[in-house]
Amino acid sequence: MNSSIVLLPGDGIGPEIVEQARLVLAKVAERFGHTFQFSSHQIGGIAIDETGDPLPQATIDACRESAAILLGAVGGPKWDDPSAKTRPEAGLLKIRKELGLFANLRPIKLFDELAEASPLRADIVKGTDILFFRELTGGIYFGESGTSGSGDDETAFQSMTYSAGEVKRIVRMAAQAARGRSNRLTSVDKANVLEPSRLWRRVAAEVMANEFPDVQYDVVLVDSMAMHLINRPSEFDVVVTGNMFGDILTDEASMLPGSLGMLPSASLGDSGPGLYEPIHGSAPDIAGKGIANPLATILAAAMMLRHSLGLTEEAEAIEAAVAAVITDGLRTPDLARGDQSKSVSTDEMGAAVVAKLTV
Ligand code: NAI
Ligand code: MG
Repeated sequence: MNSSIVLLPGDGIGPEIVEQARLVLAKVAERFGHTFQFSSHQIGGIAIDETGDPLPQATIDACRESAAILLGAVGGPKWDDPSAKTRPEAGLLKIRKELGLFANLRPIKLFDELAEASPLRADIVKGTDILFFRELTGGIYFGESGTSGSGDDETAFQSMTYSAGEVKRIVRMAAQAARGRSNRLTSVDKANVLEPSRLWRRVAAEVMANEFPDVQYDVVLVDSMAMHLINRPSEFDVVVTGNMFGDILTDEASMLPGSLGMLPSASLGDSGPGLYEPIHGSAPDIAGKGIANPLATILAAAMMLRHSLGLTEEAEAIEAAVAAVITDGLRTPDLARGDQSKSVSTDEMGAAVVAKLTV
């Protein structure tokens, strides 16, 4: 089995949090008798500084040969100059494209002990555990666009296109994931208005009826979904949707748990390595202070074991260890809220997760 893992620490807090995730993966390897080969490569601002390119060819080559990729974050004020030829984010967009990563997975799981951090009432958010599948390489963001005319006739357009094949592959991936969870899938579209949504709805229904008759399936319009996420988020399990709807709904949902520091994500293709990362950015305001929350990246490492390496038990062990340190009351400053007296550092949080994995 290919078990080489590429680490792309990137910028800001990236190196600090990726190091903690690496230590957790190394502990898992020791406990379960695996060998992971780690190699670290450049992406983002640091890659621009050292090579002039936010995604050097050496990084692409290493990623292609790997089983999976763990990314910290890219970007920061140092590279924000609008006149710059190249920006750190370009490295991230390019690696997703190079690897054909068409599915973006975002679990939104609330740890009950952190429910008070949510902007919503604890009784509404408790029990929330949703896995979003957002289509990432099609739809309106990649549609034909243009402008014409001037004055009041100045016009701009951007078209939305989906093919049956694009719909099938992401619905299949989401339905497979539903089988490993509570066996429920919700597809979100705007089929009352949009032609690509009508295709999406019909093709998705066919895939579900023919290939996943055992999975409980329903469809929701995107505007209703925006309301349900605030009203009854705990009722959803796996949700699949197109690029733009997924962009907006996953950002809305990411606010439910109340901290960006706990949320991982994955981007997957049909074959080849997946890319795993926290959803937050490089947090330049706290970089180098040793106080970043490493748990989102550690949970991304768990997703990596599950989705790219087929190591379900190992993934669950990491997730249980994270839940246990939260239950023990460990909090990095972003989670500690009013009481900072008991807050722990990045390294202490990572070490606590490692300790929970030691049997
Ligand atoms: P951000 O997510 O980096 O930070 C927002 C706020 O959350 C900050 O106050 C930060 O300190 C805090 N925060 C984020 N992650 C944290 C963690 N693990 N532990 C504790 N606190 C945490 O978003 P922001 O400030 O908008 O962007 C900063 C830089 O990151 C920009 O250059 C942006 O372009 C880049 N960025 C990169 C992303 C990526 O690499 N995937 C995603 C989003 C932003
Ligand atoms: Mg977004």
